[in-house]
Amino acid sequence: MLDILRERRSIRRYRDREIEAEKIELIKEAALRSPSSRGINPWRFLFITDRALLAELSRAKESGSSFLKGASLCVVVCAAQGESDVWVEDCSIAAIILQLAGCSLGLGSCWIQIRKRMHSSNLSSEDYIKRVLGFPENLSVLCMIAFGYPDEEKRPVPSEQLEYEKIISDISQKT
Ligand SMILES: Cc1cc2nc3c(=O)[nH]c(=O)nc-3n(C[C@H](O)[C@H](O)[C@H](O)COP(=O)(O)O)c2cc1C
Repeated sequence: MLDILRERRSIRRYRDREIEAEKIELIKEAALRSPSSRGINPWRFLFITDRALLAELSRAKESGSSFLKGASLCVVVCAAQGESDVWVEDCSIAAIILQLAGCSLGLGSCWIQIRKRMHSSNLSSEDYIKRVLGFPENLSVLCMIAFGYPDEEKRPVPSEQLEYEKIISDISQKT
């Protein structure tokens, strides 16, 4: 697990290569193994591989989502409204588990924030995605995770750059 944590970086350039169906199944399994508050599992995961839809979804935000058009898979991480008061936490945990599972399978991925983001001045990113995909109004969208075989190389963040000052081991020395 530590090797995966060291290796994982946000990858936004992808090779023109499909992801094998078996790998997609493993990513689905990983998502469904995510822990959630009280075991309610409020999440819903939409798996999109259609290239035309990926291109449309890449326009969900004015910036920070365009690279999705080069991805092979998008997982839209949503929650059913009213199932849990901590759906943001539950979906965030599932989203990072999706990314770590992808990394373990040799895939690059990147989180695309949707909640609280806008497509344009009078349309939220969430409502834009709902229009594109035509899915139920009673789902809230947290984020999309773009996946693909990496077409860029990123080194692990060196240990010396980790912000150990943000770890408080002795509360009496807290500054
Ligand atoms: C909550 C969250 C939202 C993010 N939103 C976006 C986004 O909308 N677009 C994007 O390109 N990257 C997004 N990222 C990726 C971050 O920019 C990236 O994780 C950060 O710069 C650290 O780089 P690393 O993932 O390579 O370690 C997001 C990451 C998180 C955790």
